[in-house]
Amino acid sequence: MKFYNDSIFDFNKECLLSSVYVEELKEKIYFIDDVFLHPHQIYEYWSSFPIKSHKVCIGETLNGKDFMDGRAKSELPLDNYNNLLEFNIHKLVKRIYGKENWDNLRDTRAANQFYLLKNCPENKVWWPHSDFDNENKSVINVITYLNPQIKNGPGTSLYISNPNYKQIGFEHINPWIDETNFKQILSIFGYFNRMVIFPGSITHGMTVSNIFKNFVRIVQVQFI
Ligand SMILES: [Fe+2]
Repeated sequence: MKFYNDSIFDFNKECLLSSVYVEELKEKIYFIDDVFLHPHQIYEYWSSFPIKSHKVCIGETLNGKDFMDGRAKSELPLDNYNNLLEFNIHKLVKRIYGKENWDNLRDTRAANQFYLLKNCPENKVWWPHSDFDNENKSVINVITYLNPQIKNGPGTSLYISNPNYKQIGFEHINPWIDETNFKQILSIFGYFNRMVIFPGSITHGMTVSNIFKNFVRIVQVQFI
C-alpha cells in the first residue's frame, strides 16, 4: 500500500522559465522544465487513479470503446499553500499576462488520463479546440507532462485553423479531425516534468500517437 501527502506536489524552486515567441501565432509560449521536485511520485500517484470519463456520455460516445479519456482530481489536503505549484504558477501567470486583478485560483489539482484502445486513424488529429471560460474569455492553459516514458515524444500541438473550418460535433463522438483543416504551427514535446503555458485561445490539441496503447498519457492541467 502506498501513502502520499501534499508534499509530493512541491515545486522545484530551482526550475527555470523560458519562452519562445511564435511569429505566426503572435504569442509567446512559456516553458518550465523540471518544474516539480518529485515528478516520479506524482506520476505514480496519478497512475493509481482509475480512468473515469469527465464528460457526460451523449449519443454514440467512443470513450471506453476506441480510447479511454478521463480526468482524476486530487483530494489531498492543502498543507502548505505557499509552496503549492498552483499558487506560484498563478502568481507567475498573472504577472506574465498583466492580469494582477485576476482572482480565479481554484484548488484544481487535476490530471488528464488518456489511453488508446485502437490505433490512431491515419491523417487525422485529435480534436483541435480553444478553451474559454463561462464568460467566453480565453483562459490560460497550464499543462505539465508527467510520463517518465516520454523524453522527446508527443505533447501538445498548436495550430491555425483553415478559415472555412467549423468545429461540429463532440470530442468523444467524433474526436478525429482531418488534418488538412489545420496548419500545425508548433509541436510541443511532452518532455517529462515540463510545464507549458499558453493562451487557451490558440487552437490546440493533444498530440496522439500509438505509444498511448502502451501506457496511459498523464498530464496535469490547470486553467487560469
Ligand atoms: Fe484545451
